[in-house]
Amino acid sequence: MIIKGQKLSEVDHKTLENLKALDRAQFPFPWSEKSWEQAQLVDEYIVFYNVDVTCFCLFLMSPLEKLAHLLKITVSQSDRGKGLGKELLRSAFVQFRVQGFERSILEVETLNAPAIALYERCGFKKIHLHKKFYSNGADAHIMEIYL
Ligand SMILES: CC(C)(COP(=O)(O)OP(=O)(O)OC[C@H]1O[C@@H](n2cnc3c(N)ncnc32)[C@H](O)[C@@H]1OP(=O)(O)O)[C@@H](O)C(=O)NCCC(=O)NCCS
Repeated sequence: MIIKGQKLSEVDHKTLENLKALDRAQFPFPWSEKSWEQAQLVDEYIVFYNVDVTCFCLFLMSPLEKLAHLLKITVSQSDRGKGLGKELLRSAFVQFRVQGFERSILEVETLNAPAIALYERCGFKKIHLHKKFYSNGADAHIMEIYL
């Protein structure tokens, strides 16, 4: 499996449209067109995806804190359970370690068992329960990994 990692600002038009489509198909609250446009103007968004763009993950990097914040990860329904989620995170962390990043964090809805299982499998630990984190009132685990 070849996973490509690049700045969101450098992603070509077709790939960006595929990322947006996957985001809309998989998330109840996908980013708006405006959010994608604004993120494309910022060099610190890094996206990892496969050739067919059936999965991707998106990080916001904070170089000063040596921190990679996982904002989104998704795998299309038909490709789930085949190790793609793990592979996306593995590829990202290999690159981040080389670049000197030391830590990654994320928020995940407490009822999202597949995502929590993936994160724990990859070494993330729950560090905080954030009540009513989401706009719909759902709680979130804050999870962290030292790279
Ligand atoms: C969460 C998600 C990205 C996982 O991707 P995936 O490619 O299916 O995950 P993988 O096949 O790499 O599985 C990795 C590990 O997660 C666990 N896992 C994955 N799906 C699971 C499920 N449905 N139930 C329980 N554990 C699961 C397994 O432990 C697995 O490790 P193992 O096979 O070595 O035991 C995918 O389910 C998804 O896109 N969900 C919708 C979007 C989403 O909720 N994103 C997270 C928002 S915070």
